[in-house]
Amino acid sequence: MANGLVRSSALYDRVRRVIPPVEWPVFADDIDAILDLKRQQNAVILAHNYQTPEIFHCVADIVGDSLALARKAMAVEADVIVLAGVHFMAETAKLLNPEKTVLIPDLKAGCSLADSITAADIRLLRQRYPGVPVVTYVNTSAEVKAESDICCTSGNAKAVVESLGVPRVIMLPDEYLARNIAAQTHVEIIAWKGHCEVHERFTPEDIRQLREDYPGVTVLAHPECPPDVVAQADFSGSTAAMSDYVGSQKPPRVVLMTECSMSDNVAVEHPEVEFVRPCNLCPHMKRITLANIRSALEQNRHEVRIEPGISGRARLAVERMLAV
Ligand code: 13P
Ligand code: SF4
Repeated sequence: MANGLVRSSALYDRVRRVIPPVEWPVFADDIDAILDLKRQQNAVILAHNYQTPEIFHCVADIVGDSLALARKAMAVEADVIVLAGVHFMAETAKLLNPEKTVLIPDLKAGCSLADSITAADIRLLRQRYPGVPVVTYVNTSAEVKAESDICCTSGNAKAVVESLGVPRVIMLPDEYLARNIAAQTHVEIIAWKGHCEVHERFTPEDIRQLREDYPGVTVLAHPECPPDVVAQADFSGSTAAMSDYVGSQKPPRVVLMTECSMSDNVAVEHPEVEFVRPCNLCPHMKRITLANIRSALEQNRHEVRIEPGISGRARLAVERMLAV
């Protein structure tokens, strides 16, 4: 344990800008235990950019946006993958690693977009628009992916839509992502009515107020935000694209119109940038904690399983996306 405490206090240096010293002892014991459990079980932790800094910077092996996590999941050599993110991400990792054990620390870590559409909805859309390909955001269940022609993420949606070489596609379930992509391409897009409960709450008025209160602030908006918000932003892109923008452009003052932990995680790496922090919490992402990551590894839970009748077709839609 003495060694462990030395190890976790060294890790504290990574996050001291965003985690006050008084909070650190709460995390240190779980961090040490998780580092040991990963080694004992030949496990890796994949963490989405919205995970809290003590997860993202202290126990995760692979971090990124949905696209990076899917790509990197394919190259994992460990026996066990713990997905620190939401359920659809764990399913994607399982689809790409059918032989490995994939664990999600809390089964209730869902997503309002994934909940907005079912496989039956897609079958009805196909009847209504015969022959029009279905492009499905990865923020969906494996059942929905299985009914789709190809998947996309916010990082590759335009490229995926244009890769099909057709004049019209169905893109679901995020209405705002679909409309934001439609504004960038000549391909006609038929959208669904799903929304991200985190990003739909940002408004153009928020941006107007931010520019007034924080002169010179650079506004970055995730493409799940409503189109009138994206139109007022200086840049829009996936969580990885926003992070890269901060790294390459080094705006003196920036606001990320997205989930709260994103700013913390990016701020750790860019002390010279001032982060303005009105943000919205994703209650699903926040279900993942150090404590339940530790329990997941200790008790081998909750294992993600996908019915064989679904996994083959769903994997194909994800693999087609990764080939674009
Ligand atoms: P990306 O990380 O792919 O931009 O997705 C954001 C998101 O909301 C994932 O749930
Ligand atoms: Fe789903 Fe939105 Fe949460 Fe991402 S931020 S997991 S899209 S509810």
